[in-house]
Order: sequence, then C-alpha cells, then structure tokens
Amino acid sequence: MDLFEAIKSRRSIRRYKTDPVDDKKIETILDAGRWAPSWGNTQCWRFVVVRDAAVKAKIADTLKKIKLPDKEVPNPASGAMNNVPVIIVVCARIGSAGAGHGTPGGKPEYVTDKGDWFMFDVALAVQNMVLAAHAQGLGTVIIGAFDAPQVEKILNVPEGYRAVTLFPLGVPEHEGKAPPRKELSEIVSKDSFGK
Ligand SMILES: Cc1cc2nc3c(=O)[nH]c(=O)nc-3n(C[C@H](O)[C@H](O)[C@H](O)COP(=O)(O)O)c2cc1C
Repeated sequence: MDLFEAIKSRRSIRRYKTDPVDDKKIETILDAGRWAPSWGNTQCWRFVVVRDAAVKAKIADTLKKIKLPDKEVPNPASGAMNNVPVIIVVCARIGSAGAGHGTPGGKPEYVTDKGDWFMFDVALAVQNMVLAAHAQGLGTVIIGAFDAPQVEKILNVPEGYRAVTLFPLGVPEHEGKAPPRKELSEIVSKDSFGK
C-alpha cells in the first residue's frame, strides 16, 4: 500500500472479528514502531503484547468509565476490547526524552520548556504501528482514555515507566467512516501565525 494512501485510508476501528492475528504481522508492526524517530534516539517506548484472555479482560475494564465534569460515560472503544485477539500497551521510560545528559543518577535536566518529550516520542512510534497494521489489513484504535495506573499494576510496569496508550489489534469487522478534517486553510498560515 502506498504511504499516502495508508495515511488517508486508516480509520479507528471499534469492532473486530475474532480471527487470530498472525505473529509475523505483529512483529512487522512492532518493528515499524521501533524505527520511529525519537529525542536523541533515546527510544523511550516499551511495547507489551497482550494475548492472555484474563489480562485483556482486566485491561478492558480500565476503559469502562471516562469522567466528564457532570457524569461518567463509557469509552466508545470499550466494545472493541471484548473479543479482540491482541492488545498492544505502549509504555514509556520517563526522564530520557527531552533531557540533556544531566547528573548521572540525578534529576533529568530538560532541554526545552516542554520538559519530558515521552508523549511525543511514543506518538511517533504509535503512528508507525497503526499504519503498519492498516497496511497489512488489520485494524486499530488508539486509546488514551483509560485508567493508566491500573494498567501499570495489571502489567507489573516498574517504577520509572508509565503506560501511555494502548490499542487493540484485529481483523476489522467494519470499514471505519472518516470523521471530517479541518481544511488546510484553517490550520496553515504563512510567515506569521494565523495569517
Ligand atoms: C491520543 C489519542 C487518544 C485517543 N483515545 C481514544 C479513546 O480513548 N477512545 C476512542 O474510542 N478513540 C480514541 N482515539 C481515536 C480518535 O477518536 C480518532 O483517531 C479520531 O476521532 C479520528 O478518527 P480516525 O482515527 O478514524 O481518523 C484517540 C486518538 C488519539 C490520537
């Protein structure tokens, strides 16, 4: 699949068939993540491949409620987690992306006003992975609204690492419908912001 076609036709998939996913395809997806660029090539990402039904069910539970100011609602991707064959949980080592050399063993000295760039680096790896999945006929949906500390407990994520995002991986049961995008004229300016 052509890269631009993959970028434009990838959709968030929230219903999957129960068909198993080939190990080779998963490896190709993880490898695409591995080749993402990162701050100073720090590669803070760590990928946990979850196939165990009991662990998947526990992770699915962490998506059940999203707290809005006045109520709790289920995550729209909750249903996707039920029968999906694989979940990839993306974790990050904290304190390396965005940091200079700092004091060994001490607090990281961040180079920019943004502090730790782990969210940014993880996002680059995740985008590579979801495109690699789509190019191989597999569906994904990136999930940010879940109870990350709970997932860290379930997966025994050690101190110094955070669970950032996760995505189910399976054969799509439907073709996703593209939510509209802003026009380029709304997001691009010339020589000065907003012009
Ligand atoms: C950082 C991030 C977090 C997201 N979290 C969720 C989520 O918790 N639940 C969900 O159903 N979709 C989630 N999504 C998917 C977006 O809703 C989706 O990408 C967006 O509506 C555009 O649709 P498309 O992916 O089909 O182009 C997330 C996407 C991103 C990039």
